[in-house]
Amino acid sequence: MTSVVILAVTVLVILGFANGEDPYRFFTWNVSYGDIYPLGVKQQGILINGQFPGPQIETVTNENLIVSVFNSLDEPFLLSWNGIQQRRNSWQDGVYGTNCPIPPGQNFTYILQVKDQIGSFFYFPSLAFHKAAGGFGGIKIFSRSVIPVPFPPPAGDYTILAGDWFRQNHTDLKANLDNGLNLPFPDGLLINGRGSNGNTFTVDQGKTYRFRISNVGLMTSINFRIQGHKMLLVEVEGTHTLQNTYESLDIHLGQSYSVLVTCDQPAQDYYIVVSTRFTSQVLTATSILHYSNSALSASGPPPGGPTTEIDWSLNQARSIRQNLTASGPRPNPQGSYHYGLVNTTRTIRLANSARSINGKQRYAVNSVSFIPADTPLKLADHFNIQGVFSLGSIPDSPTGSGGYLQTSVMAADFRSFVEIVFENSEDTVQSWHIDGHIFFVMGMDGGQWSPASRSSYNLRDAISRCTIQVYPGSWTALYMPLDNVGMWNVRSENWARQYLGQQFYLRVYSPANSWRDEYPIPKNALLCGRASGRKTRPL
Ligand SMILES: *[C@@H]1O[C@H](CO)[C@@H](O)[C@H](O)[C@H]1NC(C)=O
Ligand SMILES: *[C@@H]1O[C@H](CO)[C@@H](O)[C@H](O)[C@H]1NC(C)=O
Ligand SMILES: *[C@@H]1O[C@H](CO)[C@@H](O)[C@H](O)[C@H]1NC(C)=O
Ligand SMILES: *[C@@H]1O[C@H](CO)[C@@H](O)[C@H](O)[C@H]1NC(C)=O
Ligand SMILES: *[C@@H]1O[C@H](CO)[C@@H](O)[C@H](O)[C@H]1NC(C)=O
Repeated sequence: MTSVVILAVTVLVILGFANGEDPYRFFTWNVSYGDIYPLGVKQQGILINGQFPGPQIETVTNENLIVSVFNSLDEPFLLSWNGIQQRRNSWQDGVYGTNCPIPPGQNFTYILQVKDQIGSFFYFPSLAFHKAAGGFGGIKIFSRSVIPVPFPPPAGDYTILAGDWFRQNHTDLKANLDNGLNLPFPDGLLINGRGSNGNTFTVDQGKTYRFRISNVGLMTSINFRIQGHKMLLVEVEGTHTLQNTYESLDIHLGQSYSVLVTCDQPAQDYYIVVSTRFTSQVLTATSILHYSNSALSASGPPPGGPTTEIDWSLNQARSIRQNLTASGPRPNPQGSYHYGLVNTTRTIRLANSARSINGKQRYAVNSVSFIPADTPLKLADHFNIQGVFSLGSIPDSPTGSGGYLQTSVMAADFRSFVEIVFENSEDTVQSWHIDGHIFFVMGMDGGQWSPASRSSYNLRDAISRCTIQVYPGSWTALYMPLDNVGMWNVRSENWARQYLGQQFYLRVYSPANSWRDEYPIPKNALLCGRASGRKTRPL
């Protein structure tokens, strides 16, 4: 057995997929349908090894993860990894534009490394509307033992995957969208796959616990709070934050936060609460924080959330900053990268819009509504297959004109440093995710962005993260080092918008053609569409 693993590892190292000095973790996952009862009625969920949510990945900075995924569904399937940067390795990103789907009854092994990363993330199924059926799970990346962490080790480390949920199954929801309709309002909220009071988190009085909360829902922002307890924010999507205290936290679609909770209250049980934000009807779900010496169940109404004001949420967002002196994944402090002194070389302004195109509801970025091609874009690029996509098929700025369908790919240069401004003239909160990168959140405000808006940018301790909200009638500006060659998905985390075109691909290109910039295509890469029958390696 050991020799087989050593041989496998040696082969991987020789092929340049993984760093042989760093440890390996192996996972074998069977993805199947199974009965779940999250809102009390039976539904067909997507399970991983029989679990909903799926198994948690616990790993340490720089480790290599070898994840063998067996697709026992009757549909093609892919997993993607929200916030895992896949350095030099967009081959493993697991989205439609980078990977061929794993056909029903077949398997694929992801070989990825959590290079230079710490923090809290999640994985999810990226194709069709599978995310509405489950298939997601938490990812914790711990710091290496030699790296100081800016808080004492907590007595426990709990993951909370929360989000809205629908009674309709994923094929019916997808059929709504395919027919040009919108999604209905969600039927409830789930915490770790269960409705109200379906989970109990047991704690010892006097001790401090870490909670890692991700919004894995499809449609709504949520607010998170714990009855009678304050939360000390310590980490956001891989960056240690200034340790501010919050009564409640807004968590937008696709975002992840870590808080420390000190159990310093009288011994009883308390409600852990999530509720929808910015919705006229407010959905709520609770779990139980159980003091191990408690004899009393949780009582009183669960604490209410903030009202729907945007200003409250905007002010909270502005208070979330990085701790410049804390370590991140490396021993040098996070603040040693002086992003505020780097000159940007390009400004990309991205405006979302809702459009009817050919009589059907679509969503667009700079008027372009993304449609899949018959071949993953990364493979078309690698094999130089013409006619799958063209660079420059999405403009750098809003056009203001109607909408059109296109397999949109934006060209960008490796090692450039760009400014990205998300502009939202709609009346709903947007949430954007960029694969393969982390970005600095320079500022956000109401109204129209203009170059003068730069005077309000945070040039010193902006948080760096991978998923960011844009409030209604507002803008959010980022600085982003393009330090990762590959084909990267830029998408709305609102799953109907994403599915109906509010996404595109950013092709970060280096002319060097060197393994130092990008790994070669994996030998086990699945090939499909016009890439079928090609060779991943010269004979
Ligand atoms: C996966 O799970 C399904 C359903 O339980 C089972 O039929 C199948 O044999 C499993 N496949 C593997 C490879 O374990
Ligand atoms: C699929 O699983 C089999 C059996 O474990 C393994 O030999 C094979 O390499 C896997 N294929 C891929 C593409 O990972
Ligand atoms: C920032 O991190 C340092 C170093 O770990 C720590 O001592 C300090 O308390 C932190 N400051 C804040 C405000 O979070
Ligand atoms: C979803 O529900 C419909 C009935 O509303 C059913 O026909 C279909 O088979 C279900 N799909 C899955 C994947 O469970
Ligand atoms: C950025 O641009 C300014 C003004 O052109 C220049 O003075 C400065 O040296 C540049 N900074 C860097 C790091 O290149």
